[in-house]
Formats: sequence, C-alpha cells, structure tokens
Amino acid sequence: YGVGYPLAANLSACHPSFTDANRPTNCCPLRRDADQRVIDFELPKLVQSPLRVRRAAHLLNNEYIAKYQRAVAIMKSLPSDHPHSFFRQANNHCLYCTGSYDQVNSSFLFKIHRSWLFFPWHRAFLFFHERILGKLIGDDTFALPYWNWDNPDGMVMPEFVNEGALNNEQRDYTHLPSNVADLNYHVGEIRRQPEQQVAVNLAFMYHQMVSGAKKPDLFLGCKLTAGPEGACNGPGTIEGAPHNTLHTWVGSGLNPERENMGAFYSAARDPIFYPHHANIDRLWEVWRKLRESAVPDFTESAWLDSSFTFYDENLRFVRIKVRDCLDIAKLGYAYQNIDLPWLQARP
Ligand code: C2O
Repeated sequence: YGVGYPLAANLSACHPSFTDANRPTNCCPLRRDADQRVIDFELPKLVQSPLRVRRAAHLLNNEYIAKYQRAVAIMKSLPSDHPHSFFRQANNHCLYCTGSYDQVNSSFLFKIHRSWLFFPWHRAFLFFHERILGKLIGDDTFALPYWNWDNPDGMVMPEFVNEGALNNEQRDYTHLPSNVADLNYHVGEIRRQPEQQVAVNLAFMYHQMVSGAKKPDLFLGCKLTAGPEGACNGPGTIEGAPHNTLHTWVGSGLNPERENMGAFYSAARDPIFYPHHANIDRLWEVWRKLRESAVPDFTESAWLDSSFTFYDENLRFVRIKVRDCLDIAKLGYAYQNIDLPWLQARP
C-alpha cells in the first residue's frame, strides 16, 4: 500500500486501544465482527421508507420527545452483546475513534477523526443508529433531532436530554440549561453575559462555516489515506470547533478526561452525542448548499472508496463507502429548514 489508497478496517484484528489520555480501553464486541458475513450497502428503497425529517431539538413537541425517549429506553434495555444495544452503539464510536482496528494490509491504526473521514463516518454511524431507533419503536419515519447550537434559540442544552433515557450523569453540571454554550469553549471558563456569548458564537460560526472554510480541505479536513505514508492530522473548521469544543463543554469536569462527552472512547455513551452529531451532519449540508457546488467535495478514490462497517436495522453487517454517504436525499432523510442567523454575523 502506497500513498493515496482508500482505508478499510481489518475486522479480524479488533484489539484493545487507548483513550485520549493514553489509558487502556477495550471496546471490541465479544462476538468477533470478522465472523459476520459482510454485505455491501444498498440505498434504502424510498417508496417503502418515507423520508425522515430531522428537526431542531428546541422545536420538538412533547409527543416527539416521548417517542424519542421511548426508542432510546428500549435501546438501553437490550443486552449489551446485542448490536442494537445502546452499549454496542456507543462502542462503535469507540472502535473507530480510539483505533481498535488496524487498517487492512497494515499494522497502522484506523482512526476517523481529524481528517476528511470525519464527516462521512459520523453520517454513516447516525444513519444506521437512527434507523435502528425507528425499528425499535416500529416507526420508519423516525428521525433524530438536531441540537441547533448555531441558532440563539438552540444555544443551551435541549431540556429533554436531562430527563429519562436521554439523561446522563456524566455532564458538567455548571453547563446545564439555561447556560448558553460557548461554541469555542476551552477548559478555564470565560464567563460572558448570555447576549454577549450569543454574539460571540454567531461571529465564530460565520468564520467556521464561511470565511475560514472556503475550500473542501479547510472544511472537511486533511486527506487521510492508507498506510503510514498517508497519515495526516488536520481537522476541518467545524470538527475543531464547535464539534470538539462542545464535546468538552458537555463532559463532566469531575472526570479525568471529561467523560462522557469529553473523550473519544466514551463520548457516544452520552445520548446527547447523537443530536450533537446530527447538527454537525446538517452543517455539512448547509456548507455544501452555500458553496452551490454540484460536484462531490473530493473526487479521489482514496476518499470515495474508504469504507466502514455497521450493523443495520435488520442486523445485517454492512460495508458502507464514503461515496454512499454523499446524498442525504438518497439516504432517505432531510433537515428541517431553519434560519442561519450567523450568515449575517460577518465580523
Ligand atoms: Cu467521533 Cu463527536 O466525535
């Protein structure tokens, strides 16, 4: 393998890995994924599966919230070795984020952060997660809400994630509602007045989405390809912040790595991970529309043919490629349209 080849995980070698702070962890499933039959992803047949509309979390009605709570409660009640269990879902993130797999044909670890694999991997992860949740409640229109933190009305944690199955004790209690999030948070608080924080956030969003993200590499991250020669470490604007920064902002300051949300290995154990990432995924769409570009962000096979595996809602073990993840209409979902107040916040 030389420079420029797509990445895939060597499923036969799931192994213990390390947390961000270099502590050992192990998120491999007990039943080896290598023993599963892998099938290639096929787009959903949309005649049978209606479009799922992902809505802004702060606009959900009680009925929708109850449905979402119920789906996650059922997921949490499944035995921890079930691929649909909340535990295994969360560990999917751990697998690909801490380097539990080697790359195919290499002893180099496969990791999907801080590069152009960030957006597509998380899109695929949420795609399957959402369909599993829908399956668990027998609703094939179910869609994850998005935490609309780029909008002043959504800049606090959604209230309902602090209740029921969506609650998680491992959060920074000084950041619970109604504290306005600092989208560019770094440990060691800058305490601003709410209105001032909102203004700072909007100007920051303008930079991350527009002035600082004029080229695909700036927005999506550096071009990671197979093998040690293909290594790179350069997150896109949004991945760096608000993505990473909000992970840190939500995670508990009482834990060594600000678990759950503050560390790769534990982040997806907090149910807020999913609405957070739905917004990240939505912003990828928003950015593409702002560019008015009809072509894919990158045309290299090293990107388009990189692949990941997930269990789908029918318990099939599916290989999905980046090229399969580029058109959300074909994936059968859409985002509720909402104002982009940061577009007017050019500093
Ligand atoms: Cu894979 Cu929000 O991180």
